Parts: sequence; structure tokens; C-alpha cells
Amino acid sequence: MSSNPKPLAESEEEQQQLVTPWEVSAKQGGKIDYDKLIDQFGCQRLDQSLIDRVQRLTNRPPHVFLRRGVFFAHRDFNDILDAYERGDKFYLYTGRGPSSEALHLGHLVPFMFTKYLQDAFKVPLVIQLTDDEKCMWKNLSVEESQRLARENAKDIIACGFDISRTFIFSDFDFVGGAFYRNMVKVSKCVTCNKVVGIFGFTGEDHIGKYSFPPVQAVPSFPSSFPHLFSGKENLRCLIPCAIDQDPYFRMTRDVAPRIGYNKPSLIESTFFPALQGETGKMNASDPNSAIYVTDTATNIKNKINKYAFSGGQDTIENQRKFGANIEVDIPIKYLGFFLDDDAELEHISTEYGAGRMLTGEVKKRLIEVLTELVERHRRARAAVTDERIPLAISLGVKLLQVETLFAVA
Ligand code: TYM
Ligand code: TRP
Repeated sequence: MSSNPKPLAESEEEQQQLVTPWEVSAKQGGKIDYDKLIDQFGCQRLDQSLIDRVQRLTNRPPHVFLRRGVFFAHRDFNDILDAYERGDKFYLYTGRGPSSEALHLGHLVPFMFTKYLQDAFKVPLVIQLTDDEKCMWKNLSVEESQRLARENAKDIIACGFDISRTFIFSDFDFVGGAFYRNMVKVSKCVTCNKVVGIFGFTGEDHIGKYSFPPVQAVPSFPSSFPHLFSGKENLRCLIPCAIDQDPYFRMTRDVAPRIGYNKPSLIESTFFPALQGETGKMNASDPNSAIYVTDTATNIKNKINKYAFSGGQDTIENQRKFGANIEVDIPIKYLGFFLDDDAELEHISTEYGAGRMLTGEVKKRLIEVLTELVERHRRARAAVTDERIPLAISLGVKLLQVETLFAVA
């Protein structure tokens, strides 16, 4: 039997890029090659015709993450739109593995996008907090993982979801009943060989890791949530996430038809890169690689000025003469995620690339944009009172009514 410790990395010598739910790294010195990922994973590119279709069906301009290719890949997203066009609703499913006290800007990407999808399509949403996953992978105690889940829930609620259509749960609180029955159905369809092939576990890994993937799989099935979707077992599911989560859902889609369920659809994003450059996603264990929603205005200013990788020239004279390489410039990349105004972004890119703008000026604009975003988030989070957290996590079961979930607003 062949062992396969590192999926997707064809050989160490060639230093292939590696993208798994736990590790993201580009080929040495390079960027993540997203076209290659689409081929390797077997997903589809999100093309302009799908974006136009979203605009038509929702009657609103496509989100900046769609316009700028941040969400770039999908699986069967067209099926969701077909169904929607026929008048069938769907539900959204996304999640977070609570491994740190605060979210960084990369974590906000799927949540901001999910909020837009929920508003645009007026559909229910389930959010899974995988405190069990992080307890097993990060060597956190059960209690600490649960505490982080609760803290992270505040940041997630602060993203402004329609709380009457949103169910947030922690695995430690919620797994059981119909959810657990679905986990067992999934588990029976997945061999050890399969899990090793998809996730690269080895004989040294504890069995908790082997048993976890069904936990992340089953929120894709409406029958896991009888209190939300009873009588709607055929409802389709759409999962927004960054492409690192794809392995879980490859497994899920493989199993679904064998247990009589619809395959979930996915809409997948690129990674919001580290300040140091575009070789991976932000590294939670290096605080200087990322901007956190808890950073102060001073933190943000210092981090960007000190660490944001610049494609500008080393002297003003050279910058005026040669212009910046905006392909590798992190401030431009970050503005591409968070500066809404297409015309302004275009203007900055052109002027900076031609040497008429200096790195300092671009960084100054980025600092303004991110400070405002983080400040807005801080205010929204402060409004999430402690009483609303247990409500969202545990009592949500009782709060949400099937009629409300599907009401036409
Ligand atoms: P986690 O906590 O690692 O990440 C949460 C979500 O954020 C995305 N993400 C990023 N997106 C853009 N740029 C980045 N730099 C970046 N870093 C992380 C992740 O893809 C994810 O969407 N096992 C999951 C939790 C989970 C989940 C799900 C995620 C459970 N069910 C369903 C998505 C969909 C985890 O640990 O995510
Ligand atoms: N209320 C914000 C909106 O509708 C959503 C939000 C919450 C947000 N926190 C955020 C957006 C942080 C950007 C950054 O836009």
C-alpha cells in the first residue's frame, strides 16, 4: 500500500504549492497558482456569465468580491441559480474553526460575502463553529476551544447577518440527534484510504482527526437541522468559503448521492494574502503577518508602513522613472479587496504603476480604508452583548421559525 503523507504536493524536491485546510504555501518565491488549483481540485472557474446572472437574479450590482475575482471558483453554482430561477430557495452554510481570540481580515472575506449573498437572495444561513476541530488540531483544551468559539461568534454576528434567518452553532453544543445520524451515514461511506488520500493523515495521527471530516460535511444536508428545515429535505445548500476548505466538500459531494442527498454547491475565494506577500494565506501564529479586527488604528498604521510588501522602487527618483510593480504590491492587492470604488482603484493602480504616485501615498490610502473598516467592525462587535451570544449559539434552536426563514421580505 502506498503512503501519501502530503496530498497535492507532487514531490518535495519540486516544492509544489500546497493547499490543505491546515496549510497554504506557494511554490518557493512564487504566488499561489489558482488556475492550477482549479485543475487539481476539479472545480469550475466562476466566469462572467455567472456573475451577470447573479446580478440579473438579485437585481443589485455584484459584490466587489465577485467583480474583482476574489471569489473565482465554484462547484455547481449554476444549479443553485437554476433552482432559484424556478422559484426554489436554497440555504447557505459556512463556518469558522475558532483557533484564535480574534479574526483577521482574511477570515472576514467569506463572512462579508456570505452576508451579501444572504441579503441578495433572502435565504437562511447556518454557521458552524468547529470548536471540536480546533481542540483536536491545535491542542487546545475543550474549555478553551469553547471559549474561543464564543468570542469568535461575536465577530461573526458583527458582520451583520439577518439574525432571524441565521443559526450559529458550536459543534460541542449542537452535535447529536439528526446531525449525528447523518454523521454516521457519512462515516460508513468513507474508508481510511480515502481520508488519507484527501487529507494526508498518517498512521501517527490520532483517530480524532480521521473522524472529524463528517462533522464538517453534514451541515451540507438540510436533514441535519430538523428544527430549521423539516419538510424541506431537498433544499439545496451553497457553501461560501476560501478554497482551502475544498477537500472537506469533495468528500461530502462524493458521499451525498450514496446516502440519497443532494450534493452541496460551493463558491470559493482566493486567499487574502499576508502583509509580507502573496505566497500563502495569513499566518495566525505570526501577528505581524496579518491585520486583526482587534488592531488599533496605530497598530494598523505601523503594520502597513513597516511590513506591507511593496512593489515600488527603492528611491523616489527610481519610482518616478520606472513606476511600481503592482503585480506584487500588497497595498494594491489589499485595496483590491476592500476599496469599493472601482474608478478610484483604477486611478491609483495606473498612477502608481506609472511612477506618478509613491508607495507612501498608496499606503496612506490603504491605512484609511482599513482603519475605517476595522472601526466599523469594532462598533458592531461592541453592540453584540453577552446575552446575545448564548442566544445565538444554543437557544437559536428555539428562536428560528421555519416560516421566518423563508418569508419573503
Ligand atoms: P477557518 O477558521 O480556518 O477559516 C474560516 C473561513 O475563512 C476562510 N479563510 C480565508 N479566506 C480568505 N483569505 C484568507 N487568508 C483566509 N483564511 C481563512 C476559510 O476558508 C473559511 O471559509 N474547518 C473550517 C471551519 C468550517 C467551515 C465550514 C468553513 C466548518 N464548516 C464550512 C467554511 C465552510 C476552518 O477551520 O475555517
Ligand atoms: N455592517 C457591515 C456592512 O453591512 C458589515 C460589517 C460588519 C463589516 N463588520 C464589518 C464590513 C467589517 C466590513 C468590515 O457593510
